[in-house]
Amino acid sequence: MTIVIFGGGGDLAHRKLLPALYNLQVDGLLPKDVVIVGVGRKEMSDDAYRQFAKDGITQFSRRPIEEKAWQTFASSLFAATATIDGESNMGPLGSRLDIIEHERNLKAERIYYLALPSSLFVPTVKQLQKAHFVSRSNGARTRIVVEKPIGTDLKSACAINDAIAEVFDEPQIYRIDHYLGKETVQNILVMRFANSIFEPLFNQKYVDHVQITVAEEEGVGTRAGYYEQAGALRDMVQNHMLQLLSLVAMEPPHSLDGDVIRDEKLEVLQSLRPLRGADIDTNVVRAQYAGYSTEPGVAPTSRIETYVALRIFIDNWRWYGVPFLLRTGKRLRKRSSEISIHLKELPPILFNANPDKRLEPNILAIRIQPDEGFSLEISCKHPGPRIDVQPVKMDFHYGELFGASSPEAYERLLLDVMAGDPTLFMRRDAVETAWRWAMPVLERWAEQTSPLPTYVPGSWGPAEGDRLIESIGRKWRPL
Ligand code: BG6
Repeated sequence: MTIVIFGGGGDLAHRKLLPALYNLQVDGLLPKDVVIVGVGRKEMSDDAYRQFAKDGITQFSRRPIEEKAWQTFASSLFAATATIDGESNMGPLGSRLDIIEHERNLKAERIYYLALPSSLFVPTVKQLQKAHFVSRSNGARTRIVVEKPIGTDLKSACAINDAIAEVFDEPQIYRIDHYLGKETVQNILVMRFANSIFEPLFNQKYVDHVQITVAEEEGVGTRAGYYEQAGALRDMVQNHMLQLLSLVAMEPPHSLDGDVIRDEKLEVLQSLRPLRGADIDTNVVRAQYAGYSTEPGVAPTSRIETYVALRIFIDNWRWYGVPFLLRTGKRLRKRSSEISIHLKELPPILFNANPDKRLEPNILAIRIQPDEGFSLEISCKHPGPRIDVQPVKMDFHYGELFGASSPEAYERLLLDVMAGDPTLFMRRDAVETAWRWAMPVLERWAEQTSPLPTYVPGSWGPAEGDRLIESIGRKWRPL
């Protein structure tokens, strides 16, 4: 097959896609008859593109260059040119792809990967159609991959989905949320449904609350152009965090079929209690790190949030009344993402009778990154003549048990696109349901003019974020 990367000379290809494809090559997972064509606006020779890929792999691959694997990989890399805007013509690109495929004796089985800003999705898809790059009779063998964000609001997301649907059928469309490719995120379902110990506890009878944190140490960096149109709610919550929430909260699927799993995840999104009017002000906190407005490319008056914390509820039988507390931000104390399930407090009797020394409730923590693993906090008697109960942690680290570094999310996702397995990709209905839920928050924020709270870079966010959880008598778990 031919993987055609639009935006092949861009940052995503350089940092993620080419290193991921290279690692698949090293692992012997990349099919022999694959070619990768990087499409950009600027002319580039195949040799220059191979060098671009080599630089990216050297800098960002989880494994160094191995000469033999690299030689094989390099021989499948090509560069091509096309412009998307205006009346551009994809004819020359088509001829180039035909020649490459002919020389390699490949069938025209193509994956079009749009590593482009979402504003270019619609024009690109139209061009693909116009240039007859897609044939529906080719069935699911021609695929398209689009990156999040799918739009900037419900309307634009629907417009993108509509435009893609005119050219591709849903089973041909792979919408990437790279969090779903992370090993630890895939393990959420295994942990829940391959063990009998946890699942009976995952409900409103036993769970006090759930925390989901995705903290980043880095700031906006060089991405202000995109981030100034996005902010943390659009960038992280509408997609990555709601996907994590769906996996933690979904009902057991009746099979591992991709659509069955995605149906159950969708149910969670559909059960989210809508946030409306003044509820938004009490349940959602947004803030900006001090110094954000002087970052390169950021408007001095920017009101874009770099931190958001939310208290949300899932109005279904399993989770009714259990607060889900989500927070994410840039320039926080450290890079750390975790889901923690806090079980209910014990009754104040027996070992928990002392009001000055209440026992810690049990916590199951799933560490998404770094130091992937999970831990269970339980109470235990300290050895000695007295009954002294103390919390202990049963802790599992992927790194210790499995040694080698976990594959990058994009490795798994690209492999699944090639294999035609859509399980880890976002279906249209999920994307639009998540936007529908987020819209009232975005609309209310757009009406507000008061200054955003700020937080000190390197802290755990604004005091308002702490108050959000303290108002229900709980605290953010230290990470
Ligand atoms: C991306 C966001 O989707 O995810 C970025 O656009 C964010 O702003 C990134 O930094 C975080 O991904 P990861 O895998 O580093 O946690």
